[in-house]
Amino acid sequence: MTRVIFLGPPGAGKGTQAKTLADNLNIPHISTGDILRQGLKDQTPLGVKAQTYMDKGELVPDQLVEEMVQERLKQDDTKSGWILDGFPRTVNQAVFLGELLRKLNQNGEKVVNLNVPDDTVIARLLERGRKDDSEEVIRRRLEVYRSETAPLIDYYSSRQSLLSINGNQSLEEVTAELKKVIAS
Ligand code: AP5
Repeated sequence: MTRVIFLGPPGAGKGTQAKTLADNLNIPHISTGDILRQGLKDQTPLGVKAQTYMDKGELVPDQLVEEMVQERLKQDDTKSGWILDGFPRTVNQAVFLGELLRKLNQNGEKVVNLNVPDDTVIARLLERGRKDDSEEVIRRRLEVYRSETAPLIDYYSSRQSLLSINGNQSLEEVTAELKKVIAS
């Protein structure tokens, strides 16, 4: 049973690697960013609420994202495992997730941190060009990452082992390193 949480700054390669790994293992790739973007496309109340935050590079309020993840993790396809990409993003979300996984009897998750320097992520995201990939919004996302999400590295390191990966290599090299640490 594989359950993996991906941490890392915007543009670290979380989505790319999470999707590859989930496809290989035939388990769901749960990306909070993708679910919110789909909600926005479908104009659901959650998607509409999230838009102002996402456009500015701010985090959507914890409670909205937590409810969304809770609903997703209760679905049947998560019984064989999952890859979480983009959640948790704050210490409050991490505490919420820990309690939720205990309740759902889904503990035993591995936490992977993808390390990539700022200049690399800025270059990658400018090239990708998603709506929130303008230089101004990328810089704000990096600031939010440092203040809200980077503290999760210490949070998880002090509670369980945190697997650290060099994300500043080719896609194939990152995938190979990931497979190795997840299997270990
Ligand atoms: P989200 O969609 O999660 O965006 P993010 O964390 O900023 O991450 P990205 O998708 O930009 O990067 P990634 O690490 O997945 O990299 P990727 O693989 O795409 O969140 C968007 C917004 O939603 C947030 O700002 C927030 O508003 C809201 N939100 C989401 N979750 C939330 C939460 N839990 N709480 C509150 N708000 C939340 O790769 C990037 C590019 O680099 C791609 O073009 C890729 O091809 C390329 N690339 C990847 N790896 C490599 C490599 N090794 N070499 C060369 N290029 C590479």
